[in-house]
Amino acid sequence: MNTTLAKDIHWVGYVDWPVRDFHGYQTKRGSSYNAYLVRGSARTALIDTVKAPYAATLLAHIQAHCALEEVDAIVCNHAEPDHSGALPAVVAACPNATVYCNAKCQDALSRHYDTASWKIHVVKEGDALDLGGRTLRFFDTVMCHWPESMVTYLPEEELLFSMDIFGQHYATSRRFDDEADLAEVMQEAKTYYANIVLPYAAPVAAAAKKLLGLRLRMVAPSHGVIWRSHFDKILAAYLDWRASKPTRKVVIFYSTMWQSTRLMAEAMAEGANEADVAVKLFDLKAVGDTELITELMDCAAFAVGTPTLNQSLMPRVAAALTYVRGLKPAGKKALAFGSYGWASKGAQEAEGYLRAFGCEILREPIVCRFVPDAATLDACREAGRALAQAALAVEA
Ligand code: FEO
Repeated sequence: MNTTLAKDIHWVGYVDWPVRDFHGYQTKRGSSYNAYLVRGSARTALIDTVKAPYAATLLAHIQAHCALEEVDAIVCNHAEPDHSGALPAVVAACPNATVYCNAKCQDALSRHYDTASWKIHVVKEGDALDLGGRTLRFFDTVMCHWPESMVTYLPEEELLFSMDIFGQHYATSRRFDDEADLAEVMQEAKTYYANIVLPYAAPVAAAAKKLLGLRLRMVAPSHGVIWRSHFDKILAAYLDWRASKPTRKVVIFYSTMWQSTRLMAEAMAEGANEADVAVKLFDLKAVGDTELITELMDCAAFAVGTPTLNQSLMPRVAAALTYVRGLKPAGKKALAFGSYGWASKGAQEAEGYLRAFGCEILREPIVCRFVPDAATLDACREAGRALAQAALAVEA
């Protein structure tokens, strides 16, 4: 595996092939926690660490390049435990190392770990650490992804250690974008954006604007592959994803109890399919929230179906809508539908979620008692056509 970014600059992280859950994000292709070793003529710095259980692997990777006593600085760009979890073990193993982080990160680290004995150097925006012929310069990137997040720039190599920004939960034996399957990388970058970055789209865009003033030859995030040949692609994609830019796509998702809501969903898809738009139909038994929000991020319009269960919506639908509500996809047109037995509550409650997202509601919920009749299925087909019209209104 090629782990060399430039002479004396190495990836020393951990590839987490089996991980399938990242605080609720279903990581179907695993992940990696990227740490980097930068050697100057005078000092050696480690940029970030890995999750706590993989500290030994990180230390072994460092020792492939230098003795642990030679590590002078450990840069902590972000206190989230996927990058700081191994820090206590690394600090203990590297007796000459000082931790470099900003004030908010120092505070966050002290609330995660016993840092009383650590040597910590607090940095602020624009500060630099001279490694001898190589410089590390620090820039705050507040809320990308936590309040203390920062990135580290190495001007001599035009190399940005971009932390979570431009990352992907993607396990691969290839460390660089031009060595890996680019279609898979971009899909995982999109999934990562939808599930991690989307609520912070504005601060990430502001950070990107600031960082694009730098000369960038290589961008090394803390998850997934390093961008050295296709940075233009991920940058362009970030611009689209930032606005949850709608495409000519309709998404219909639902849960069903006795198949009535499924029949309504299928009639809706049939109506939408009459137009030249992409239509995706998901039974929430068969799709996870991670995939669902990724599909919703760039759709133009969507519909959510739920039967009424115990005077409420189906728990699986509530879970999906709660997950989506937190991630805030913007600018969508939507409607709700579903069957009921004796009190129609589920679809109306689902519509309340849509209003909370700020969706433009296309019509009142379509509901039916027990089993949809021909008129109800016609109404569903018509609603599908309305969803498709909303998608067709988007620039192709
Ligand atoms: Fe990859 Fe926000 O941690």
